[in-house]
Amino acid sequence: QCDLQGLWRNELGSNMTISAMNTAGTFLGSYHTAVAATNKQTLVSPLQGVQQHPGAKRHPMFSFTVQWQFSDSATAFVGQCFVDHRGKETLETTWLLREEVLSHKDTWKATRVGTSTFTRIK
Ligand code: BTN
Repeated sequence: QCDLQGLWRNELGSNMTISAMNTAGTFLGSYHTAVAATNKQTLVSPLQGVQQHPGAKRHPMFSFTVQWQFSDSATAFVGQCFVDHRGKETLETTWLLREEVLSHKDTWKATRVGTSTFTRIK
């Protein structure tokens, strides 16, 4: 069984903490990004998520959003937790980063997309 709770780091050096989930599968956490789209000083930011079919699956799917405390942006992550034959857990995710734009005419440039893999550090 792959457990989302704990401290994780991705390939950019960003750290996130996921706290215990409730029986409905929802969880809270915090995200400390190592990079930003602007030159602003980063701040640890809250995340809210949900695990799909909590407890039922060996490789559970999940989604969470991060509400950045230092920019007018938000990121949505979707992914799946995998555990290999040695018990090593990874979170393989795809994300969308939406920034606030002043006009709908700028919508075309408002979203970035990427993939990210997290490994457990605690
Ligand atoms: C911003 O720059 O407006 C907020 C910070 C965005 C950080 C992004 S989210 C996707 C990617 N993965 C990370 O760990 N950090 C960047």
